[in-house]
Amino acid sequence: MSTYAHITGWGMAVPEKVLTNQELEMMVDTNDEWIRSRTGIEERRIASDDQTTASLATEAAVNALRVAKLPPSQVDLVIVATSTPEYLFPATACLVQDRIGASTAGAFDLLAACSGFIYGLNMAAETIRGGSNKNALVIGAETLSRVVDWSDRNTCILFGDGAGAFVLQASEEPGGILSSVMRSDGSGGDLLWIPGGGSAEPATNQTVDDSHHFIQMNGREVFRFATRVMARTSEEAIRKAGLEVEDIDLIIPHQANLRIINAAARGLKLPMERFAVNVQKYGNTSTASIPIAAVEAIEEGRIKPGDNLVLVGFGAGLTWGALTAQWTGPFAELKPIRMRRYRRIARIRSFLLRWARRLGALFFGRRGDSA
Ligand code: UT7
Repeated sequence: MSTYAHITGWGMAVPEKVLTNQELEMMVDTNDEWIRSRTGIEERRIASDDQTTASLATEAAVNALRVAKLPPSQVDLVIVATSTPEYLFPATACLVQDRIGASTAGAFDLLAACSGFIYGLNMAAETIRGGSNKNALVIGAETLSRVVDWSDRNTCILFGDGAGAFVLQASEEPGGILSSVMRSDGSGGDLLWIPGGGSAEPATNQTVDDSHHFIQMNGREVFRFATRVMARTSEEAIRKAGLEVEDIDLIIPHQANLRIINAAARGLKLPMERFAVNVQKYGNTSTASIPIAAVEAIEEGRIKPGDNLVLVGFGAGLTWGALTAQWTGPFAELKPIRMRRYRRIARIRSFLLRWARRLGALFFGRRGDSA
């Protein structure tokens, strides 16, 4: 019998702090009219000092598990798609795994820029369909405000912070993730990148002086690429699922620029009402933008069980991708779970593990060294 990967939980987390276009007018040479007409963005969220990619990811994950009514101890896999990880390593996914108490889960980060959430869903769905996992948590999380050059008007008006998460679960009922397409073109890698801080340009005073730790972008070229691939990739994923464009109830595109979404709508010959759009509220939150738009569409009652959806995105790499999914919602027979209690247990567990390691080093460290 075949196994399917269903979307059974969803959650989001955005910082409280709002940065409006008017506030940006006081920071760089720009204006509200330009930003609205060129991008559709009105405001974005900015992480406070104590918020990080891992903290936003954890909050979104907890909300998604609550919806799915899935105890963290039953999560087999945590994938965090991010371009702004907490550290180069360990993976942000491992920090989330510890903070939610997913004690038997594997965890890794996935770097495919703004296409990362689609890539992550596809990877998680494959492991579920293949039988190696039953329950997976896929998170898109970013604190792009930390890598934006706040004096560069070409980029600083675009990006925002936030996180979104889906729970995927195995079932023999047909549905869930139906098809996916993942593509890349590394020849366009320098169109959107952070040149410094990796092995090619390790951090030095010079890389800092040259602003090489901030996002650099050729906006026009990325725009042209995005408008080329969005409709085409969606169509490919729809065809792969054995569906027609008319069968799709809602398209949830990467929220980078309203004009790019308009171009996708024209390419697919669909009205804008068939698209989930919230770029005006959050700007471009990269990997988080698709799950955040999905969560808001669900809350607005725009997605019902049985609906056919397309998720489509593009980003640095260059990468792009799309997937089709039949919406499921939480498995009905499960009882509500108290996530607060699980989080408390996770905190105690993490504390005890750290102390056990310290005590182990104290009592057995020397003996271990000489062995
Ligand atoms: O997740 C993927 C992330 N990246 C993207 O999605 C980016 C895709 N690209 C875009 O969204 C658009 O290219 C932008 C919104 C970045 C720019 O819009 P555009 O219509 O392509 O503008 P442009 O780059 O062609 O610039 C037009 C003019 C330029 O002035 P000149 O050279 O014509 O005198 C820019 O210097 O607008 C100027 N400009 C601005 N003016 C006011 C650029 N940024 C700003 C600004 N405020 N913030």
